[in-house]
Amino acid sequence: MSEKKTTHFGYKEVDKDSKADMVADVFHSVAARYDLMNDLMSAGIHRIWKRFTIELSGVRKGNSVLDIAGGTGDLAAKFSRIVGTEGRVVLADINQSMLEVGRDKLLDTGYQGNIEFVQADAQFLPFPDDSFDCITIAFGLRNVTEKETALRSMLRVLKPGGRLLVLEFSKPENEVLSKAYDAYSFRLLPLMGKLVANDAESYQYLAESIRMHPDQDTLKEMMEDAGFNRVEYHNMTGGIVALHRGVKA
Ligand SMILES: C[S@@+](CC[C@H](N)C(=O)[O-])C[C@H]1O[C@@H](n2cnc3c(N)ncnc32)[C@H](O)[C@@H]1O
Repeated sequence: MSEKKTTHFGYKEVDKDSKADMVADVFHSVAARYDLMNDLMSAGIHRIWKRFTIELSGVRKGNSVLDIAGGTGDLAAKFSRIVGTEGRVVLADINQSMLEVGRDKLLDTGYQGNIEFVQADAQFLPFPDDSFDCITIAFGLRNVTEKETALRSMLRVLKPGGRLLVLEFSKPENEVLSKAYDAYSFRLLPLMGKLVANDAESYQYLAESIRMHPDQDTLKEMMEDAGFNRVEYHNMTGGIVALHRGVKA
């Protein structure tokens, strides 16, 4: 059987080879206004989702942490304070524009100088085996072309006993919430994107890519298939977002 050569970019079926460039265009376009839009779109709730991710990470002073698809550095900034000067945080992202916005923001807020900024693709992480105590990927996995390849790459660079945390949009738990959420994401999001960032298209992609992303149980299975142990997930905001955690044996 020949391997499938296409994948999804939102609702569009595109060549696997072109998805990364299309995703790159989205994030080059939104980088400057990314933080503002994040706060507006989620009414600030993304901060709570991220705080819970930090709590469940179990990261301690002196640990090594990789935040992949780290973008503008919200998680990296928090990890930087926890691991301290004996620890190490790597903020990795495929997109130069997002990394630049992240680096400027963290420099302005005076982080501890323990963060490295690396341009890297989640599918092909440029780190030795068994490097990190914890890896996070927040709102990044759904943009990756081959999610299975990325999960295996993350498993490889985790230390035995290390944790992967995947924070991502997921499937609302009930019909009423699901309908309201659909109306919000397909009507209001692109409109907000147009008004605030003059970019309706990127926010249309956001809404579509969320619907195409695997639901809670499917992602749990994908993590198990990639080799993670003790995989579990926690729904937040009625399942609009889920946090999956798996451990490397
Ligand atoms: C929605 S942003 C999330 C940023 C940040 N983690 C947060 O939660 O605010 C998604 C990020 O994933 C990055 N990204 C997309 N595909 C990627 C890939 N294959 N490897 C690494 N990063 C990727 C994008 O450049 C973008 O910065």
